[in-house]
Amino acid sequence: MMKHSIAVLPGDGIGNEVVPAALEVLHTLADLHGGVKFETTSFPWNCDYYLEHGKMMPDDGLSILKDFEAIFLGAIGDPSKVPDHVSLWGLLIKIRREFEQVINVRPAKLMQGIQSPLTSPKDFDLIVVRENSEGEYSEIGGRIFRGDDEIAIQNNIFSRRGVERAMRYAFQLAQKRRNHVTSATKSNGIVYTMPFWDEVFQQVKTEYPDVQTSSYHIDALAAFFVQRPQVFDVIVASNLFGDILTDIGAAIMGSIGVAPAANINLNGKYPSMFEPVHGSAPDICGRGIANPIGQIWTLKMMLDHLGLDELGSVLLDAIEGVTNDGIKTPDVGGKASTQEVVEGIIARLRNMV
Ligand code: NAD
Ligand code: IPM
Ligand code: MN
Repeated sequence: MMKHSIAVLPGDGIGNEVVPAALEVLHTLADLHGGVKFETTSFPWNCDYYLEHGKMMPDDGLSILKDFEAIFLGAIGDPSKVPDHVSLWGLLIKIRREFEQVINVRPAKLMQGIQSPLTSPKDFDLIVVRENSEGEYSEIGGRIFRGDDEIAIQNNIFSRRGVERAMRYAFQLAQKRRNHVTSATKSNGIVYTMPFWDEVFQQVKTEYPDVQTSSYHIDALAAFFVQRPQVFDVIVASNLFGDILTDIGAAIMGSIGVAPAANINLNGKYPSMFEPVHGSAPDICGRGIANPIGQIWTLKMMLDHLGLDELGSVLLDAIEGVTNDGIKTPDVGGKASTQEVVEGIIARLRNMV
């Protein structure tokens, strides 16, 4: 029997609805498979924890998490309780950074049975490789008063090592797919970091002569995502550009509620972390209607990462079977509850595994 130890952080808002939903699916998969077991340990670290303890996780939180094989996270953030930059830097971004989860992998594809808002969507299937450790997300900067004005300064950090790493990951991923990498740049307006980004892209691409490339400014690329998503295979983007592009990717799939993601640690020193693209959705929390597909597809990415690819692909088939049957939450035009979608997926799995 193969055992896998998973740390579970449901977090805030709908994280507490979609994570238990996904765990039901995970344990069903284990029962049906018979040869694999998931030992899940849940931690209540979120904005309520902060209100009680003055921090998002205990001081030894990272050393507790370090020994797990993977981290499965819902969403962090409840601005009605804790300012977002405090809660996110105190937990989510802290884990990404301290555990060197330097790559954020975010697929988007046309889903069976889910209506894209595009009028005639082609069959797109793309993956954004988002640099996840530096870029526009930095703690370097400050606020100063100058005369009667106030100035906020935020520095961007682009290291050669960090940029090369993200780009090589994108090229190697493309080699397993359709051999095309698109770079998201903005070197027309941003004069130091983005020309550097372009230069590194030109260098790294020579290491992968079999892979075709293109490069677009992020503003045009955002438009192309909407107009012709089918032309893209792998897109490599900085931290902020990747963040924005992947909400667009989610939107063209039909809802941010279906989009999955994986924060990958490449050096094997720390666990990787699996969390969907969406946030805690305070506007729909508590109504039992959150779409669990983003979290369950994220589970598939975790299974793939653990070497359980077969279970992962069965799971994605089950998800699409259920959406194809019309068992869908309101964000994608259905009437089903979170639980009904989960039950649909579990029923399908019972017939498949
Ligand atoms: P959000 O993703 O939480 O919500 C945006 C919109 O999408 C809302 O209308 C919401 O109802 C809808 N939505 C999101 N997930 C859904 C789902 N599974 N099913 C159905 N509808 C869904 O983004 P936001 O409103 O900008 O952020 C809310 C909070 O979440 C903030 O505190 C933000 O910082 C945080 N956040 C956290 C993460 C994370 O932990 N990974 C990601 C994004 C935002
Ligand atoms: C995401 C989120 C986070 C990010 C926020 C909540 C800090 O939007 O994972 O996409 O920007 O990385
Ligand atoms: Mn985001």
